[in-house]
Formats: sequence, C-alpha cells, structure tokens
Amino acid sequence: MTYSRIIGTGSYLPERLLTNADFEKLIDTTDQWIVERTGIKVRHIAAENELTSDLAVAAARRALEAANVVPANIDLVIVGTTTPDRVFPSTACIVQAKLGIANACPAFDVQAVCSGFVYALATANNFIKAGQARTALVIGAETLSRITDYSDRGNCMLWGDGAGAVVLTASEEPGIISTHIHADGRYQELLYVDGGPSMGNTEKPAMRMQGNPVFKMAVNTLDAIVDETLAANGMEKADIDWLVPHQANIRIIQATGKKLGLPAERVVITVDQHGNTSAASIPLALDTAVRDGRIKRGQTLLMEAFGGGFTWGSALVKF
Ligand code: UT7
Repeated sequence: MTYSRIIGTGSYLPERLLTNADFEKLIDTTDQWIVERTGIKVRHIAAENELTSDLAVAAARRALEAANVVPANIDLVIVGTTTPDRVFPSTACIVQAKLGIANACPAFDVQAVCSGFVYALATANNFIKAGQARTALVIGAETLSRITDYSDRGNCMLWGDGAGAVVLTASEEPGIISTHIHADGRYQELLYVDGGPSMGNTEKPAMRMQGNPVFKMAVNTLDAIVDETLAANGMEKADIDWLVPHQANIRIIQATGKKLGLPAERVVITVDQHGNTSAASIPLALDTAVRDGRIKRGQTLLMEAFGGGFTWGSALVKF
C-alpha cells in the first residue's frame, strides 16, 4: 500500500507585529479582554509589497530544504488560501513559477478558508495514494490583514498573516493515516467576506463574522471530528501524541485538548504569537513544534480545523 509521508516542514512569518496595545488604540478593547477571550497577544502583518505567494514561497523553500528535495522534483503544488494574490492565476501557479518548478506539474489552490490546509493535505494525499503524484508541496498561506476591517471590534483582533508548508512523498510506511473533510454551506452567513468579483464590492471586501455562534459550532463540530477520526482508525484517545489544531481561539483549542484527554503540553499552541492565520495556522504550528524538537519522528499527530463555509476536517498523521 502506498502512503504519503511528511518529509519536511517550513514556515514564514512577516516581520511587522501588531500587538494588543496597538488594538487598544484602534478599537474599544483591552489587552486583558483579548488575552482572556482569544489567547492572542501578537500577530504578524505582511509588508505592503509582500504578497501571499511571497509568504508561501518563503515557507516552501524552508520545507524543501528540510526535506532535502529540489524544486524540480516536486510534481504537485497545492496552496490552501483564502487571500490569493489575484483572482487568477492561482497562487499555486505563481508559487510554482517563483520556485522555478518548470516541469509542468499540476498546481492549484484550495479554498476552504481555515480548513484550507487540511483540505489541501487530503487532496495531495489522495493524488499520491492514487499514483498521480510522487512528491507534493502543500502550503497554507494567508495575508488576512488585506481583508480585515480594522474598525470591526468583533473580529479584527483575531487575524494574522503567515505561511506554512510541508513536502509529502510516496512511501510504503505511513504517513498520513487518514483524512476527513466536510462542509455545510448553509452556515455561510455567519462567516464570510462581503464582496467578490461576482457580487461586486471588490474595492475593499472584508471579513464579517458572528463570533459567538461560530465559536459554539466550532467547539461542537471539532468534538465530533475527533470521534470520527479515532473511530475510523480503531484508535483510542491515548494513541494521540500531539494535537496540532487550527489556531482560532485558545478556548476552542483547550476544549478539543480536553476532549482528547491530552495534557496542555501535548497541544501545540501558537495562537498567542500568530493570531488566527486561517489556512496557514496548522502548518505554522506543525513547523514550530518540529523545529523546536517537541514533535519527533514516529509520533502520532491529530490535525483539525474549522472555518468559513462552514468547512471542517482532520488529518491523522504518523510523523
Ligand atoms: O477560524 C475560523 C473560525 N473562527 C472562530 O472560530 C472564531 C470564533 N469566535 C471567537 O473566537 C469569539 O466568539 C470572539 C473572540 C470573536 C468573541 O468572543 P466571545 O466570548 O464570543 O464574545 P461575544 O461576541 O459573546 O461578546 C462578549 C462581550 C460583549 O459585551 P457585552 O454584550 O457582554 O457587554 C461584546 O460587546 O465582549 C464584547 N466584545 C469586546 N470587548 C472588548 C466584543 N468584542 C470585543 C473586543 N474588546 N474586541
């Protein structure tokens, strides 16, 4: 049986920081409220000339280096993003060109908002298992600051910019054990961007969210996806070494950690330093914990995400 294995991780964060003190000057809020309700202390913001593809390329280069793979050996590029450089071509095509991958391999974006990385990973995994790709570059990259309304106190303090990437390759050893992805478009009015090419308002579209109902749905849905993932593999909570969650809100992450019975030190948390970077948050968290030595080869990781759409999903991975 062919599996796909993660053989390298990388990430990139823009230099500029936006702290809670900065938000105290922008909106009616306090550092204490933001930390207590979200866990966020600081987020990174892309420079004016930095595009999502630039963040993606920087993260990808680090993942390729860690995997010891040259760009020419990549035969599939997938970018999870909700903030593409342009409507088209896809950010994945732009990344392919910037990395000098000139082998005409398929390159496309996956739009599943905060679940974008899990969706992209699931897609690449299926390409590899089907024998249609051998070594894939899977990236989550966002410049959410470009679609944030910094006068909307209900959500503007949440979002950050960044990118994370993994190199996946075909292997006889697991690898990605299973992926589970879902969507329910009936909830789109709770979390959306208020414009786009077809609807108009393309000047400055921004994210709109009814935070509290989204929060409740996220907790319940992630609870269910944990059960679904474990049941699909005949596994117990105790088989999970690390939870590598989407970083939306510390309270959502803690609820899933509790559901899994995992001690806090087995949950990778970056939301305090990165904010919510949507499709970038899981690969950013993964790379952080791989590079600081917490996540080790052979360990079992559960990745999960919930976001606009609604979309949600998980990936169970033997690292
Ligand atoms: O990644 C994609 C999915 N996204 C998420 O999962 C995000 C889900 N939502 C959340 O993280 C939370 O709902 C928020 C952090 C956005 C809001 O936290 P909450 O605990 O749900 O707050 P709330 O909206 O119920 O508001 C509670 C109070 C209200 O005041 P009153 O009515 O109790 O007097 C708000 O006006 O907090 C107030 N509030 C604020 N206070 C200070 C709302 N925003 C702020 C703010 N600073 N920025």
